[in-house]
Amino acid sequence: MKPRGRYIWAAPALIAAALIFAGANISTGSDNSEYRFFPNLLKITGDRQVTVNDFTGPETCGACHQGIHEQWEGSMHANSFKDPVWQKKWKMAFEETGGTIGTECIGCHSPIGMMTDRLVAPADMENLDNISANGVQCDYCHSIDSTHYQKTRALEPHNMAVAIDPGQIKRGPFGDSEASFHDSVYSQLHTSAEFCGNCHNVFHGSTGFPIERTYDEWRHSVYARNGIVCQDCHMAPVDNLPEVAATLKRVPNPGYASEIADERPHIYTHEFVGGNFVMSRLLGSEKSAVIAEKRLKAAARMSLSASATRSPGLTVVDVKVENIAAGHNLPTSLTELRQMWLDVRAEDAAGRIFWSSGAVDEKGAIDSKAVIFNSLAVDDFGQPTLKPWKISHFAYNKTIPPKGHAVESFAFVIPADAKKPVTVRAELNYRSFDQSVADALFGDAAPRVPKIIMTAAELKLD
Ligand code: HEC
Ligand code: HEC
Ligand code: HEC
Ligand code: HEC
Ligand code: HEC
Repeated sequence: MKPRGRYIWAAPALIAAALIFAGANISTGSDNSEYRFFPNLLKITGDRQVTVNDFTGPETCGACHQGIHEQWEGSMHANSFKDPVWQKKWKMAFEETGGTIGTECIGCHSPIGMMTDRLVAPADMENLDNISANGVQCDYCHSIDSTHYQKTRALEPHNMAVAIDPGQIKRGPFGDSEASFHDSVYSQLHTSAEFCGNCHNVFHGSTGFPIERTYDEWRHSVYARNGIVCQDCHMAPVDNLPEVAATLKRVPNPGYASEIADERPHIYTHEFVGGNFVMSRLLGSEKSAVIAEKRLKAAARMSLSASATRSPGLTVVDVKVENIAAGHNLPTSLTELRQMWLDVRAEDAAGRIFWSSGAVDEKGAIDSKAVIFNSLAVDDFGQPTLKPWKISHFAYNKTIPPKGHAVESFAFVIPADAKKPVTVRAELNYRSFDQSVADALFGDAAPRVPKIIMTAAELKLD
């Protein structure tokens, strides 16, 4: 006889249990149980405990990959742990959260420090071993084996959704290379933007809000459509950038993957330069700083025109800013921190500036009326914050999409005594962060945050 009654009783109980289970899952907002380093989704193949001895330091790789090692040295990847802004912010995050921030800030900045448990609390920074201190390095990237972003709730690359398998095998783009020191295995992942996206899409804070979305921005661009990946712009000579961006085609870069191997028709360089010329220079890498400046100067184009908008007594000028060479929004990533702004001024023929917008004052602050391309990050209570662990969303996000443009109008009155013709000059400026950020982090020792002119244009009005 079938115990029907028991089934009738069991069904709602099962449903209730399932609901409680699902509810618990939703309320924590996470699928964290299988991730030891949550919110970093990194897995170690075989779930084994790794130590620094499982990794080979960059200098050793450099013995046979000298050129590549020189390019990587001084990059923001090499400096991702040494970066004093990151170190200060992590310390602050750790103290303010009483340590509950856990590994959240360590994963991408010192992946080996996190995996080996060498870097757990800020006090560990002082005597950190050399390998962990080398940040995003050769043997981290070339030991990555696979990605499981497809199984995450976001269904897209983010927060280190990769598995790593350190050891004898180095994964790379060739498939036909031979080395005595290590085995080589072809990895399609390394040739894709998803490889980078697993760290360059960062979801943070109490809500898991996607703060840095460089990969997403790229994903929906014409570059992605044409197979131009991060590597084609950031692992290639910066002088090739305008051509890659304009033609949407890879520019061949013949060279040597190793000084003891034959020349190859195309190799990827390892400078990994973005816009951070400030930190690069501060940490002694003039080479990276110069490339960053060149990259920023190639990114945008600007033009000025008399506006169609007419208003009695007012002169209106339109400033058009085009993102011509960034494969993602301009600016991208830490848009709440980075500053790209318009410095516009109107000057008469006698050289008198009678109107301006976006000037920087003696204290390093940008004029409060300035047009800034950035985002405003706020916490759970809607208060502006620059603490990644507190950001709940952006109140606005004003950045320029890849191959997109923005038009900003500026209105002013030309004084009756102004000598004609009047010239309107505009500069598109960039700096890594506001002076107040440096002042708050470093006090009296704070360096002056320099800006760079990305591009400039002018218009004469008769
Ligand atoms: C999933 C990867 C990831 C995690 C986790 C992560 N970061 Fe980052 N972080 C990045 C990337 C990528 C950049 C570089 C973005 C750029 O320069 O445009 C960066 C840059 C920064 C910078 C800018 C440094 C400079 O010199 O301008 C700071 C500060 C920073 N992170 C702080 C933090 C803090 C604090 C945490 C923890 C709350 C954290 N990061 C966690 C990936 C990550
Ligand atoms: C004793 C010399 C030597 C050392 C040390 C060495 N390599 Fe290599 N590696 C080579 C040679 C030779 C090649 C083949 C290059 C070619 O075929 O163009 C190679 C190829 C590679 C490739 C390409 C693999 C592929 O098939 O796509 C990667 C990635 C790589 N090495 C990473 C590393 C890393 C990371 C280290 C340090 C942990 C390292 N190598 C240390 C000699 C060395
Ligand atoms: C941020 C991750 C990352 C780091 C750090 C890194 N690489 Fe690579 N490397 C890559 C990727 C990705 C490619 C393949 C690019 C492609 O084919 O699209 C690559 C390619 C290579 C190749 C093949 C030849 C070439 O340049 O195309 C060698 C050899 C290599 N890397 C060695 C090294 C060594 C040695 C270091 C440290 C000095 C290093 N890599 C650091 C990601 C990294
Ligand atoms: C393990 C995580 C990780 C991976 C994988 C990774 N990055 Fe990064 N990347 C970082 C971090 C962290 C920083 C910032 C360090 C800082 O500013 O302190 C950074 C910085 C950069 C910068 C410099 C940003 C600036 O402001 O100048 C560029 C460019 C960059 N990465 C490109 C790439 C590309 C291209 C790839 C893929 C081939 C890649 N990254 C893979 C973590 C990663
Ligand atoms: C068509 C060329 C191109 C492609 C493709 C591209 N970038 Fe960039 N990237 C640039 C340029 C130009 C800049 C400098 C302007 C800027 O800062 O946005 C830049 C800047 C950056 C920065 C520094 C942003 C800042 O201001 O702090 C990071 C990080 C970065 N790129 C990562 C990536 C990643 C990751 C990908 C792939 C998902 C990628 N880039 C694809 C051209 C490109």
